[in-house]
Amino acid sequence: MPSYSRPLVSKLPRVGTTIFTVMSRLAQEHGAINLSQGFPDFDCAPALRALVTKYINAGLNQYPPMAGVPRLREAVAEKVERLYGAAYDVEHEVTIVPGATYGIYTAMATLVRPGDEVMLFEPAYDSYAPAVEVHGGVPVYVQLTYPDYAIDWQAVQRAITPRTRAIIINTPNNPTASVFSAEDMRMLDGLLRDTDVVVVSDEVYEHIVFDGHQHQSVARIPGLADRSFIVSSFGKTYHVTGWKMGYVLAPRELMAEFRKVHQFNVFVANGPIQHALAEYMQDRDAYLSLAAFYQRKRDFFLKALAGSRFVPLPSRGTFFQNLRYDAVSDERDTDLAVRLTREHGVASIPVSVFYREPPAHKVLRFCFAKSEDTLARGAEILSRI
Ligand SMILES: Cc1ncc(COP(=O)(O)O)c(C=O)c1O
Repeated sequence: MPSYSRPLVSKLPRVGTTIFTVMSRLAQEHGAINLSQGFPDFDCAPALRALVTKYINAGLNQYPPMAGVPRLREAVAEKVERLYGAAYDVEHEVTIVPGATYGIYTAMATLVRPGDEVMLFEPAYDSYAPAVEVHGGVPVYVQLTYPDYAIDWQAVQRAITPRTRAIIINTPNNPTASVFSAEDMRMLDGLLRDTDVVVVSDEVYEHIVFDGHQHQSVARIPGLADRSFIVSSFGKTYHVTGWKMGYVLAPRELMAEFRKVHQFNVFVANGPIQHALAEYMQDRDAYLSLAAFYQRKRDFFLKALAGSRFVPLPSRGTFFQNLRYDAVSDERDTDLAVRLTREHGVASIPVSVFYREPPAHKVLRFCFAKSEDTLARGAEILSRI
């Protein structure tokens, strides 16, 4: 086995194995119901699978265009204009990428120089800070208020400095399941108006907003769309997280720089899957019905938990339900998450792992992108604790 014995200064000294890998592994070891990692335990639509096969068999197996297959870029631009009112130029302002994580990383590679500050809201999705730091940037954290996970706009204002290069927002939000309101978007627009701050808007859960509310895309607000990278993921929308497919939208000037990096980072995303997604996107109902689909799962899970000592926090979007456990245990959330998996057979994610300095909140995140049978069995165990 080869071994490297010279000094190596890590660019990401704080990064280890992610909690998602740890909890999924633990769940497997203990045969636990896995409500930890955010992926469905059901398959995607057979029609979508058939389309991928169709395009592979049709021989579309070589490099597609660097920015993405034109018909898929057209389908994305058409959807975004119809839903959010912003017209993105297919030639220059839409790029198909291998997943949203990649889109965010490449946006950071495009924007961040050593010493630049990038504002993040905490709790924050775990890929954001490393994507900033690996490019020499400095994450600047603004805490979402607890327990409603709202945005303290005064704190945002205080955190903006001449070094602020970008701000990463995420609505609907993982891990809090909170969403931006139209007023939040107006506040952001107003605060950034006299700055050069670029917004990287992670909208991977754009089609999973509950209770009749609308997704607040930055594309709805011209002043924000003009300064934003929008990143979305087909993985979340079509139950195909393993395909790692997404798209990025930005004004032409920003996108031209993004594509310079993209060209040498990966060059292209999977070709036959792009053709399949382009055809599948013609069925609007597949993404427009997603919110109702997941709302039913949320409500099923909550009903099955009624009477439990775990107390639900609002889940306004995404496929996550956070539960407070103040009445159950004094343990730290990381300890309880491990014990629940080992001793009770249900795996979750401790929300403190999404913080740099974990607060003492007693909250676990449960993923309800699962079959009703899985949710019922998970809720039954939780109700007995
Ligand atoms: C907020 C958020 N952004 C990005 C991603 C990653 O998306 P993708 O699998 O397309 O890279 C996830 C997946 O969990 C997520 O929750």
